[in-house]
Amino acid sequence: MPLARPVSDSTVVITGASSGIGTATAYALARRGCTVVLAARTEPALHAVARGCDELGGRALVVPTDITDPVAVERLAASAVAQFGRIDAWINNAAVGVVGLFDEIPVTEFRRVLEVDLLGTAYGMRAALPHLDAGGGGVVVNNASVLAEVAMPYQSAYNAAKHGIRGLADTVRQELRLTGRGNISICTVLPAAIDTPFFRHAANHSGRMLAPPPPVYPPEMVAETIVRLLRRPRREAYAGGAARLIGLQWRLAPALAERALAWYAHRTQFGPAARLDSPGNVFRPAGEAVPEGGWHGRRRQLIRMTAALGLAAARSAVGTVTAIARQRRDAR
Ligand SMILES: NC(=O)c1ccc[n+]([C@@H]2O[C@H](COP(=O)([O-])OP(=O)(O)OC[C@H]3O[C@@H](n4cnc5c(N)ncnc54)[C@H](OP(=O)(O)O)[C@@H]3O)[C@@H](O)[C@H]2O)c1
Repeated sequence: MPLARPVSDSTVVITGASSGIGTATAYALARRGCTVVLAARTEPALHAVARGCDELGGRALVVPTDITDPVAVERLAASAVAQFGRIDAWINNAAVGVVGLFDEIPVTEFRRVLEVDLLGTAYGMRAALPHLDAGGGGVVVNNASVLAEVAMPYQSAYNAAKHGIRGLADTVRQELRLTGRGNISICTVLPAAIDTPFFRHAANHSGRMLAPPPPVYPPEMVAETIVRLLRRPRREAYAGGAARLIGLQWRLAPALAERALAWYAHRTQFGPAARLDSPGNVFRPAGEAVPEGGWHGRRRQLIRMTAALGLAAARSAVGTVTAIARQRRDAR
């Protein structure tokens, strides 16, 4: 079921609103006259976003929240209801990442990524459901990633957390239907690489500068996808044609797509070598109230990289055919 009332009349909680896609979503909703409740750890950045929302014609409440604390997340929901009387939608958007080989990432950072990305989303859903139910229904949007469906090397904790979000959403959707609460919609967004500060914020143990693999799309595109889901909820929505394409490849030929994506990501998600070994914003916030990351240029690399991806796919196809032929010859 969509929002019980128009977006302009709705109250929407957004986690991770202090930067990137969360900020862009707050602005997209504020522009439509919506009331937004902004949560993240960095209070000054949230106030800057709130001022932006006011200027765009919306109303905003700032509730500094660390989403790894379930009590704080309950408090976020209670503050929204105390101030505006109800919650119509809840957007679980906050996340952090750690980049490096699985067995070289510090275990504390691996665990924290799961706590923020997966458990933080679970706490958000738990806090939202009773209020959405009390209001006669509503929408939960979990901003996952195309990495909830496919996998990319050097991002094991993030991939695992995002795959978990998808499973969690599917289960809760089933349970809501079974318990007569089908008027609450649970939607999962699967964006491609987005131009936000995420790659500057991520913990980094790769020994290289990080960069989003092209093509890179603007955060406003994900924000508009989220607004559409509030109006017409769907189980899942890709954001960015590249995400749809990679998802399709993965479903059609998983082994081949896995090899091709590994080859592609290995060559595109790193910049120059750097003696960096940083926990990024995993434990402490970076404090930027900007929607964009400054990666537009990487869109131009699309044609070059698409050609490279085609070459990788062709190489692994040849490899697979050769292996099958060798197996058959050995079996004879
Ligand atoms: N950028 C991409 O390429 C891309 C692609 C697909 C999906 N996504 C997803 O999009 C969402 C937004 O990411 P983004 O790209 O906009 O990155 P971002 O600019 O780094 O934003 C992340 C947000 O999460 C907040 N946050 C981090 N840890 C938190 C915690 N413990 N408690 C509360 N808030 C916390 C950050 O604020 P504070 O530091 O102030 O707490 C920030 O507002 C994430 O779920 C990400 O996985 C991004």
